[in-house]
Amino acid sequence: MPLFFSLIFIMASSVFASSNTNEFIVFNETSKQFEKVNNFDSTFQMENTWRNLKKHVENNFNEIERDNFPLRNCFLEDFKYIKTKKTNLKNITFQMIKQWSKKLQTPVYKIEVDKNFSSENISYDIKQKLLIEANRARTFAYAPYSKFHVGAALITKSGDVYSGCNFENAAYGNTICAERSAIAKAVSSENRGISFQDKMDIVAVAVVLRGGIGSPCGNCRQALYEFNPNMLVIMADIDGENMVEKKLFEILPYGFGPISFENAKVE
Ligand code: THU
Repeated sequence: MPLFFSLIFIMASSVFASSNTNEFIVFNETSKQFEKVNNFDSTFQMENTWRNLKKHVENNFNEIERDNFPLRNCFLEDFKYIKTKKTNLKNITFQMIKQWSKKLQTPVYKIEVDKNFSSENISYDIKQKLLIEANRARTFAYAPYSKFHVGAALITKSGDVYSGCNFENAAYGNTICAERSAIAKAVSSENRGISFQDKMDIVAVAVVLRGGIGSPCGNCRQALYEFNPNMLVIMADIDGENMVEKKLFEILPYGFGPISFENAKVE
């Protein structure tokens, strides 16, 4: 296990040290927060920062959790990916690391939103939170066949966040994507009869995967369409660098939804 953590440390510190921006993010041991600093150029301090992070991660896991660390493979693969692909790390990557280190945080949470919260007025902060939550969920993906880990997080009108990951099946066609896994969590948690659909309660969904943008498959676009053609779909890479935002109706034009039944009705 120490080998595992030192591996993270070596990978992480080498990525960090190769950063060539003037803005650095350091891990504050006392507040357990990442903080932005400028002109942070001491190699010693940098290494110290990562040692603190490593300690924090270690201290927040008990022996059993460490031995059963479910994020291990994904965690290491992500670092390998970032290390080979990146010369710069963005704030969101650090946020991601921070979330990993707080593995035990409550998985379903609420974000304070205004009464008129809609896909037209989602703040940058909420988008970031959704991406981070999608990323966290992604690390739970069960994808032994494709080894392709996807995470999704959606937010409802009331600010509730539901996340999901893909889970595959030996009978491949049984696989459920991350987006539909998040929808299932949301509907089964708070469907209030038909109103969940009628009120177009899903305001936005973030989809995250490693290496490319998290573009939802056709099945998932259709599944999401049921709950608001106007929702914002935020598609991103794990480091938030390649990010695309589209309204759902833009990526599923002329979609088939509940409204399609209206004209055909005979009372
Ligand atoms: N997958 C998703 O979870 N969401 C998508 O929108 C695209 C595909 C998953 C399904 C499968 O487990 C793996 O990615 C490879 O297709």
